[in-house]
Amino acid sequence: MIRLENVSYFYDPQAPPVLSEINLIFAEGVYTALIGPNGCGKTTLIKQVNGLLIPTSGSVSVDGMLTTDTTSLREIRRRVGMVFQNPDNQIVGMTVEEDVAFGPGNLALPPAEIRRRVVDSLGRVGMTGLEKRAPHTLSGGEKRLLSIAGVLAMDPRYIAFDEPTAYLDPPGRRRILEIIRRLRDQGIGIIHIAHSLRDIAEADRIVVLNRGTVLAEGTPAEVFNQADMLEAIGMDFPGRSR
Ligand SMILES: Nc1ncnc2c1ncn2[C@@H]1O[C@H](COP(=O)(O)OP(=O)(O)OP(=O)(O)O)[C@@H](O)[C@H]1O
Ligand SMILES: [Mg+2]
Repeated sequence: MIRLENVSYFYDPQAPPVLSEINLIFAEGVYTALIGPNGCGKTTLIKQVNGLLIPTSGSVSVDGMLTTDTTSLREIRRRVGMVFQNPDNQIVGMTVEEDVAFGPGNLALPPAEIRRRVVDSLGRVGMTGLEKRAPHTLSGGEKRLLSIAGVLAMDPRYIAFDEPTAYLDPPGRRRILEIIRRLRDQGIGIIHIAHSLRDIAEADRIVVLNRGTVLAEGTPAEVFNQADMLEAIGMDFPGRSR
């Protein structure tokens, strides 16, 4: 499991902390959604879970390995995949298959295993047949699927998705949500940062972040019931028109 203990973080020591005394657990096979208003610290929080950022105080461990232990960072980053908001920043290959092969290519695996992972990962996101395409010719939705395939090729135990449905049309959005659910069913721990509450009805658990602290935590039913709280922090919720 991923464990955050009393995590506080600030970019600027003069300003209030961006994360303040966060205690959270993300387990394998559990789909956690992370919501909260603009600038509340969601992206900063997920950057802590694979050691891209190190807490100013407190600790983060992944399956018992601390992110402050530099000898563990490589393995932590393999276990915790990140799908960032802008897929263009994650594209590294000249073709789709080269792009997906890049990560496992750095793991000193036999070529046959790399090949197997590329085929398997592209299949899992429904991109079989696009292996030879140049990534820049893909649609926005396909680029996002490609970045998910690249993460899957590392055989991660956890994946954090930062607003994975942003800028997608409804079919593209449904496709991503279906992939996320399927990955959870396959035992991967999911952290899904979402802007719209509509996207996260299928989560096992919702964490509401506000101004760098955990405001509420519970099942979708429990959290959606707290309409006043959600409205107070500016989140719209299913079933209510604006
Ligand atoms: N690199 C940085 N340097 C300084 N301040 C930053 C940096 N990145 C983020 N911040 C500030 O930290 C706070 C939290 O930002 P963060 O991006 O984690 O929020 P978020 O919840 O992901 O927001 P959004 O919904 O807009 O994606 C904001 O006030 C932001 O301006
Ligand atoms: Mg963000």
